[in-house]
Amino acid sequence: MTYQTEYAKSIHSPAEFWAEKARALPWFVPPKTILSKDENNMDRWFADGSMNTCFMAVDHHVQSGRGDQAAIIFDSPVTNVKQTLTYNELLTQVAQFAGVLRAKGVDKGDRVIIYMPMIPEAAIAMLAVARLGAVHSVVFGGFAPNELAVRIDDAQPKVIVTASCGVEISKVIAYKPLVDEAIAQASHTPDSVILLQRDTLLAPLEHSRDCAWHTLMEQAPSVEPVPVLGTDPLYILYTSGTTGAPKGVLRDNGGHAVALHYSMQAIYDNQAGDVFWAASDVGWVVGHSYIVYAPLLAGCTTIMYEGKPVRTPDPGAFWRMIEEYKIKTLFAAPTAFRAIKKEDPEGALINEYDISSLQNIFMAGERLDPPTYDWTVEKTQKPVIDHWWQTETGWAICGNMLGIEKVAVKAGSATLPITGYNVCILDDHGEVLPAGQQGAIAIKLPLPPSCLPSIWGNFERFSSAYLSEFPGYYSTGDGGYIDEDGYVFIMGRTDDVINIAGHRLSTGEMEEVVAQHPAVAECAVIGVHDSLKGQLPVGMVILKDGYAIDDATLHSDIKHALVKNIGPIACFKDTLIVPRLPKTRSGKILRKILRAMADGQTFTVPSTIDDPACLDEMKALMQARNWIK
Ligand code: COA
Ligand code: AMP
Repeated sequence: MTYQTEYAKSIHSPAEFWAEKARALPWFVPPKTILSKDENNMDRWFADGSMNTCFMAVDHHVQSGRGDQAAIIFDSPVTNVKQTLTYNELLTQVAQFAGVLRAKGVDKGDRVIIYMPMIPEAAIAMLAVARLGAVHSVVFGGFAPNELAVRIDDAQPKVIVTASCGVEISKVIAYKPLVDEAIAQASHTPDSVILLQRDTLLAPLEHSRDCAWHTLMEQAPSVEPVPVLGTDPLYILYTSGTTGAPKGVLRDNGGHAVALHYSMQAIYDNQAGDVFWAASDVGWVVGHSYIVYAPLLAGCTTIMYEGKPVRTPDPGAFWRMIEEYKIKTLFAAPTAFRAIKKEDPEGALINEYDISSLQNIFMAGERLDPPTYDWTVEKTQKPVIDHWWQTETGWAICGNMLGIEKVAVKAGSATLPITGYNVCILDDHGEVLPAGQQGAIAIKLPLPPSCLPSIWGNFERFSSAYLSEFPGYYSTGDGGYIDEDGYVFIMGRTDDVINIAGHRLSTGEMEEVVAQHPAVAECAVIGVHDSLKGQLPVGMVILKDGYAIDDATLHSDIKHALVKNIGPIACFKDTLIVPRLPKTRSGKILRKILRAMADGQTFTVPSTIDDPACLDEMKALMQARNWIK
């Protein structure tokens, strides 16, 4: 089998292609309808298949003799805890926690928010929700109460599952006050908050809705998996869009299970029994797909790591993990390797560990810059595979499909489109551009299984955000080009989304917070290059007439407001007071140009610009501030 034949089949006969992949999974009733349209005329996968994702990921392996194999290995250098859960043990806990949730009134279709650190109970809670045919929404622990409140109001959960604390290197973060504050801010109130007490910090349970995980588990009956349809929702994962309100990316059960199961072999070249480590967080899509669901669907052992690549305790952390657990595949963000490189430039600690089990290193989440690629290859002597994907798709759009045919790597490219993705480069009018020309990256419909069929409760928003720009295509929001060999080069976002240390955030949302400062008349937030975190946000602010404040004071106020409203992961770098911003004659700030300028990209000055001289002024200001060279 070659990549080209497999890819061609996936594009020309998608239903046939995915029907075959679906047969590899244990359905209750296999789907007869492979590809169909829903009430919104959106393509849907496996509409009449009856299944349960938790059954496929857990029970099935116990039934087929993997019960004693490690399912989850938990390693927490920040609390000095190590723990292994076999598939048997995982099944017991998941089935029981499903019993806990059912007793709290959670039924098929109900939502449960999970706001937890990187501990096995986060995965147990996700799987238990899936077992009930309910819908989970995991919120990353680095988000502030305000962000959690927005998600509570949108998802309207019956239950929130949380823990007493998370640990960030040596900083203990109490979660309960954050949850309480979020519930106080939200209009919707969940019926119950289930809290896992951790020894590091106990939380008082002071509301009638509060209950302790361990107490409930003592009395809980085990619950059998509830059959759902392939198109029934599995989870909502909120991600940053161009406006302040995050988008609830909807994932269905059937397409997700089929694509993820297939990807473990086809992309990552992993088989049942292999040890797979995605060094991410369950709060992000990488965590959903490659810490929890894909490795378990494939019968692998997955690693949950509560630590960082550095400082827990040193830049040898990744290599220690690989040796200790005989990890075959490592998946992390480039920023993690930049952090290791910064503290151990010679890679000396790599030589202190036996990393012979490691076969491949996959990177995603942000652009893999050539120096980081070169350093990682040189120091580890392992193949490094860049692959490009998004929360919206749930799995890779472009990559090197190692399990089918390993193709040559081209530096700076995420390689070739993954089977099922008809990736095109379009100009502003939606015309397909020839090889080598840069434009908007779009995917011709139908999208393959696992990709979002809608935004939670808001098909209109889904349609206007992704489908209306280029009819017949899904707009990725990324720009780039395809070369004459079909290799895809991702050049960055064309909208207000930036990537900070592999975390996706919206500059539009940040602008809404900055604009609330009493001194601010107008502002633009853009991402500037950072050698460690890839990008960092900075603000350019026009003051209200008569308002006197200096850059430093304004910056400190804004930074504080962003930590409070979005969370510490916003990492706001700098604020600059400017006399004016480049605008169109109708008064619209030319953010696209500011972004391109900060990225060092070429841009066309629109004929509608009010005063072209303003652009030189901006460039000089950015240079003076060391934002750009
Ligand atoms: N809960 C609470 N706070 C969190 C948090 C969480 N889950 N995650 C991060 N934060 C906080 C940090 O403590 C830090 O706070 P501080 O500014 O008060 O110190 C702030 O958010 C910024 O965190 P981060 O950007 O992670 O910086 P760092 O210096 O702690 O670590 C890296 C830098 C590069 C080591 C780290 O960002 C990293 O490992 N990134 C990879 C991310 C990743 O895997 N992404 C998944 C996509 S594949
Ligand atoms: P997220 O939804 O958090 O996974 O972020 C998705 C965005 O991250 C994409 O739209 C890209 O802008 C960026 N991204 C992810 N992977 C890559 C990659 N391999 N190369 C370049 N950009 C990437």
